[in-house]
Amino acid sequence: MTAQTLALAPVSSSTRVIACATDEIGEVAADLVASLAPDGVLGVATGSSPLALYAALIRRRAEGLATEGLRLFALDEYVGLSGDDPRSYAAYVRSVIAEPLGIPASRVRVPSGSTAADAETYERAIAAAGGVDLQIVGIGRNGHIGFNEPGSDAETRTRVVELDESTRRANAEHFGGDLSLVPTHAMTQGVATILSARRIVLVASGAAKARALRAALTGPVTAANPASFLQRHPDVTVVADSDALTEDR
Ligand code: F6R
Repeated sequence: MTAQTLALAPVSSSTRVIACATDEIGEVAADLVASLAPDGVLGVATGSSPLALYAALIRRRAEGLATEGLRLFALDEYVGLSGDDPRSYAAYVRSVIAEPLGIPASRVRVPSGSTAADAETYERAIAAAGGVDLQIVGIGRNGHIGFNEPGSDAETRTRVVELDESTRRANAEHFGGDLSLVPTHAMTQGVATILSARRIVLVASGAAKARALRAALTGPVTAANPASFLQRHPDVTVVADSDALTEDR
């Protein structure tokens, strides 16, 4: 296996790739988020990829960046975990993002419930807020964005999905390594919901993301890799380290 640095030229001219050191991803992505209006609508991903970004925003708040007026919409939530469960994404958004940024709970929304009506309620809340100004996304090793697993098409909206086994395995570390404890379903914003955001920032680090990221940016637009639908969006910035932009062959 030899590592090859990909000349990652995105197919879409509206996608910009910023390659940086792993420890710079947070600050580079924070520069983009800091350009939001103080009362802007920020779409937030959970998981490991954006942690450095949130830490950078928290540091900037300490230095005077006004974050208290932002409104937050999360991408997804496990079905069956209450918002009080520390493994829920509601708990993540509250403890990692909203509270340290001084954003009151009334300005924070995370998908909840498991019915079509719950999903519709979430879509309506996003619309009522005027849509998402900037959406942060990570990418799954299988190309998922939000929890839109392979097979999710471009028209999908917020809905309950079954999680891929590979996704559940990747997230088992947050459940004490016990796969049987990882929920089988989640409610996620759909691909169309995500693409409705005015700007999208994808953060990725590590070699495990390289294959999916390259396919998303340079491959065909296909439901087999839902992140590839980002090629259709008019304003995407990818902030990634060289491992994520390098693929072993
Ligand atoms: C999280 C989400 C997922 C993650 C993806 C990558 O809200 O929607 O798509 O962004 O699974 O997860 P990490 O960053 O933990 O590798």
